[in-house]
Amino acid sequence: MDTVYLRLDDYIACGVISESDEEKIRRAAQVLREGGLVAFPTETVYGLGGDARRGDVSKRIYAAKGRPSDNPLIVHIAQFSELAPVVSEIPEAAEKLSAAFWPGPMTVVFRKSELIPAETTGGLSTVAVRMPCHPVARKLIETAGLPVAAPSANRSGRPSTTTAEHCVEDLWGRVDLILDGGPCDIGMESTIIDVTGDAVALLRPGAVTFEMITELFGQEPEVDKALRGPLKEGEKPKAPGMKYRHYAPAAPLTVFRSKDGTKTEAVWSRIREEAEALSKEEGVTGILCTKECAAFLSGKLPENTYVKTFGSLSEEGTVAKRLFAVLRETDSVQTDRLLAEGFAENDLFLAVMNRLKKAAGWNIVEV
Ligand code: TXA
Ligand code: MG
Repeated sequence: MDTVYLRLDDYIACGVISESDEEKIRRAAQVLREGGLVAFPTETVYGLGGDARRGDVSKRIYAAKGRPSDNPLIVHIAQFSELAPVVSEIPEAAEKLSAAFWPGPMTVVFRKSELIPAETTGGLSTVAVRMPCHPVARKLIETAGLPVAAPSANRSGRPSTTTAEHCVEDLWGRVDLILDGGPCDIGMESTIIDVTGDAVALLRPGAVTFEMITELFGQEPEVDKALRGPLKEGEKPKAPGMKYRHYAPAAPLTVFRSKDGTKTEAVWSRIREEAEALSKEEGVTGILCTKECAAFLSGKLPENTYVKTFGSLSEEGTVAKRLFAVLRETDSVQTDRLLAEGFAENDLFLAVMNRLKKAAGWNIVEV
């Protein structure tokens, strides 16, 4: 398949959608209307979009990603009025959540309507819906005039894509069009909340945090057990996608952290000791850490060790934003094993740790 690449130059330069950007978005919307696939920016990660009402299109999305078809897609809308047609009921908890956090980085699981075929929801009777706040995503959905099914725009198993270059790496020749709107602001996929059961349940942490949901309802949401540790044989997560090894860099990854976040320097020392021990073996060790850790390690590392930083410890937003890009970068340089600095699971760091743990296959060392 030929892939068309369109860069939204003015939006990238100044954050405003110009007439020429709009023309490119109209072309992308036309592709969606004709049943084609478009990779597009959202505030979380890039999405691989298609018409959510068409089972044949959802099948093509699965094929383009190389994703198992039991892993349901998120349906994206631009306006509240577009919610009712895709769901069969809107529980009170969902009204509360959407009033507080839409448009934005939150996905809510509802019972689905007839409009959404089983192919889009991986055979489930529920549908995950999100209203993004990214101006390009909103304009694209609005112009197409249809609900847009979009998983993250990465090949299955790879880190999610947070730039159009990542989409080119993973999806060139597999989608009809890539719309480049620059790097994503948040860099981590949306929070997923299930409101179909008796209690509100957090299925995937994201930029709408556990603390924010707790404050909204005056009580803590349930937390799906897939978030707490590796599932046992036969156990199922509520979000089917949470069972797959994900976000995985090519080299095996070990995460070091102090559970309550109080022994930061001890974690850094432990990473240094580990790197020293590994330097006696063949191969290259990559260290992924904060700027503060990198400064601590500077000048004290053995040969055949490199350091990549994902931001400052005091800026959780930057760490979240850079994580997937840094994981991808390790695939393009020789790396035989990776050591990463981990965090206490507060606020956005709950989402960061969720992705790091999965990238590490739950290989965590508590210091
Ligand atoms: O930020 C995001 O959510 C991005 C952007 C593109 O919107 N999308 C995204 O989609 O991360 P994806 O497909 O990579 O992850 C969707 C997750 C999967 O873990 C899937 O199992 C879960 O959502 N999910 C989808 N529909 C569901 C449903 N009906 N019930 C429970 N989980 C569902
Ligand atoms: Mg994904």
